[in-house]
Amino acid sequence: MCGIVGYTGYRDAFPVVVKGLKRLEYRGYDSAGIALHNQSLQVYKKMGKVADLEEHVVGKNIAGRTGIGHTRWATHGEPSDRNAHPHLSASGKLAMIHNGIIENYNQLKQELLQKGYQFISDTDTEVLLNFIDEIKENNHCSLEEAVRIALKRVTGAYVILLIEQDNPDTILAARKGSPLVIGVGKGEHFLGSDASPMLEYTKEVVYVNDYELAIIRPDELILKNLGNEVLTPYVQKLDIELAAIEKGGFDHFMLKEIFEQPQTIYDCLRGRLDAQKNKITLSGIEQYAKEICSANRIIMVACGTSWHAGLTAEYIFEECCRINVEVEYASEFRYRNPVIHPGDVIIAISQSGETADTLVAIENAKAKGAIILGVVNVVGSSIARISHAGAYTHAGPEIGVASTKAFTAQLAVLSMMALKIAQLRGTMPAERISYLLSELEEIPGKVQQILNDIAPIQSIAEKYAAARDFLYLGRGYNFPVALEGALKLKEISYIHAEGYPAAEMKHGPIALVDDQLPVVFVATRDSYHEKVISNMQEIKARKGKVIAVVSEGDETAISLSESAMIVPVCDEMLAPLLTVIPLQLLAYYIGVARGCDVDKPRNLAKSVTVE
Ligand code: F6R
Repeated sequence: MCGIVGYTGYRDAFPVVVKGLKRLEYRGYDSAGIALHNQSLQVYKKMGKVADLEEHVVGKNIAGRTGIGHTRWATHGEPSDRNAHPHLSASGKLAMIHNGIIENYNQLKQELLQKGYQFISDTDTEVLLNFIDEIKENNHCSLEEAVRIALKRVTGAYVILLIEQDNPDTILAARKGSPLVIGVGKGEHFLGSDASPMLEYTKEVVYVNDYELAIIRPDELILKNLGNEVLTPYVQKLDIELAAIEKGGFDHFMLKEIFEQPQTIYDCLRGRLDAQKNKITLSGIEQYAKEICSANRIIMVACGTSWHAGLTAEYIFEECCRINVEVEYASEFRYRNPVIHPGDVIIAISQSGETADTLVAIENAKAKGAIILGVVNVVGSSIARISHAGAYTHAGPEIGVASTKAFTAQLAVLSMMALKIAQLRGTMPAERISYLLSELEEIPGKVQQILNDIAPIQSIAEKYAAARDFLYLGRGYNFPVALEGALKLKEISYIHAEGYPAAEMKHGPIALVDDQLPVVFVATRDSYHEKVISNMQEIKARKGKVIAVVSEGDETAISLSESAMIVPVCDEMLAPLLTVIPLQLLAYYIGVARGCDVDKPRNLAKSVTVE
């Protein structure tokens, strides 16, 4: 949550920082602001999106070669100009931006109030900034020293960037728990919450670790730990192209990302799956094969859409690997003092690799001796780095706040993991594995087939865009897809939607059904099909509007549906990779029909780095 950008070098900082902020708006868009060093510190900030900030500075002096910028997802204090970052210290000599939460800010605030400090905003950031300022003024020390002292008192998570009146070309950065990337250029340096703000300038980056502090000048990058020891920055080469983070002719990132799925699933399988040779190459699993094969259980830990991928994987792993699987909301798991035995295997699923709850959950489990396998999209992210091993999903940058291509890539990786473990444990007949591998190889083509004919989905969206509520039902492998369909709809169209196992409907939700309620069935041909058909009859008998995702050629299901979305036939275990696609499109087109900002739904942020 919150995006941070910094620049120091020979270019004008404003356009570089603003362009970077636009790329990070997926992390929050309650307000935006920038501080520039232009003889003195200049701060411009505005409630709303980065475009509002651009309008706000028209006619103002925005010169300066060093600058820091912020796009906010509000935690402490409502979205407003006053609470927008950057904040200026009481002395006027420091400007700071912050991503994260300072948990003991109130205690620090009380100390500062007693010393006569006054606060303009309601933010924890302004407290930390003045805490640093006070240490610096009182101890007559450098900013670097003051930050080091201050951070030893701080609990919580942060990335902070500071610029200083008396140091025109220097940015000071520190991190604990929130992401920070430094781009290394020639005579210039860039900072960002991820690498997107620096992509067109440099491919050389340094991922800053927790408890590290960086002093950045145009020609110099000094990395230290909080104990003031100088560290050698590990410079890595990025392999993302600029085109990957642009809309490429689509109206929204979400639509672009939905349409990318044939390619992203293919990329995820490429080099790992060889159906002809009956071979899956997943080095992370191979490395821990002994431990995984002897584990008594696997625990999937994730949040939101990634949790839905975990729930789908529970069905797949139990079927393939005959091993007990538990699926946990990271936010519950981490606070519950869960029973973890050395040797338990935890699979952490995360697109961003920065979700705070998932990160802390696996840190705790790791400390208790569990083996952590990461299924992560963002290369070099915190969850990827803390995991013992794992497999990247290789879906490329996902910018639309509602997750789409990351979900199908997670399912593809988790399916391969399950089949690999089944091979290792000998828990599934070789012919069945071989069949599933060739089915998996065909998934990208089948997803493309769905995307080639979206007109029926668009007209269903138009027909039901005014509905107040939606119910999503599915069974077995398709039950988590029903949950995911409901989540997609509510987050981008603000329509109330609930997902249920279809059979549970009779235990309560059926009371909601009337002639106004659209009920979306995920009803492909599988072992539960007859039961789901009965559930459709039950809804129809109560005059509910049946919309269904059905298998090609399934005339029974089609005739029971007021509106049908057809997907190609595939093995039931892999069906979620197909059935989720029409639901993503349905949510997208309903959101658009209702005039919603589908890439930036209200109150949400892409990377949830607060607990
Ligand atoms: C929903 C969505 C969220 C994320 C969740 C976890 O569309 O995007 O529910 O899935 O915040 O995020 P990651 O996967 O980054 O850990």
